[in-house]
Amino acid sequence: MRIPLSPRLLSCSSFVHTGDRVADIGCDHGYLGIYLLTEGIAASVIASDVNEGPLQSALKNADKYGVRDRMSFYLSDGVRNIPRDFDVMVCAGMGADTMISILDAAPWLKDSAYRLILQCQSKTPMLRQYLDLQGWYIHKETVLRDGRFLYTVMEVVYQPDHTCLLPWEYHFPPALLINPVPETAEYYQQICTRLRRAVMGRGENTDTETLQTLQALEALSDTPKLHWLKEETK
Ligand SMILES: C[S@@+](CC[C@H](N)C(=O)[O-])C[C@H]1O[C@@H](n2cnc3c(N)ncnc32)[C@H](O)[C@@H]1O
Repeated sequence: MRIPLSPRLLSCSSFVHTGDRVADIGCDHGYLGIYLLTEGIAASVIASDVNEGPLQSALKNADKYGVRDRMSFYLSDGVRNIPRDFDVMVCAGMGADTMISILDAAPWLKDSAYRLILQCQSKTPMLRQYLDLQGWYIHKETVLRDGRFLYTVMEVVYQPDHTCLLPWEYHFPPALLINPVPETAEYYQQICTRLRRAVMGRGENTDTETLQTLQALEALSDTPKLHWLKEETK
């Protein structure tokens, strides 16, 4: 029986190491955890959701795919009511505001024992800024296409002495250029286009930060990796 895992969640799963104990926060249908168990990737999965309906559907699906005994289920706002014995927390399909409120409520996550895998649906630059200022280091990030949209998935570790991001890097962090994929160039173009539109729309009233971000990103266009990617995707 094939698990109906979206490309978004498949990309999240690729950040999980074999033997990881995973906490899937906002698990909804539970497919990510189920996939990680049936593929022999995760050792165990905590599936939690703030709403009863999704949690019940995760339970039903875990039964259906025969992994109920290796999953535990919690009704919880963020990580408030879940046990702390996991290695990696996945938050996927949520906006930056929700992710930030989950992290703000759990300072105990700021520990090198934990990794975070985050797939943010909206206001991603705001999330990157928050993480950066809170001592979290985005050490991997990738771009993927799911349907008509491009998304990123990032892996974050607590490393308060990391080199801080520059403001324009909240929009396009260096981690995206470590192992770029063809979608990285598309993502870059999309961000530049959005910023150019914002600048054109506001004319002389454009704030300095937007203008400087656009200039810094445009200058990046000639870095060898992006140049190569853009040529590859033409
Ligand atoms: C759009 S779904 C995403 C489901 C799945 N993670 C995915 O990416 O396909 C968001 C899920 O997060 C849950 N959720 C929203 N806020 C939450 C919070 N503060 N704590 C836990 N779960 C939350 C919702 O109930 C919903 O099931």
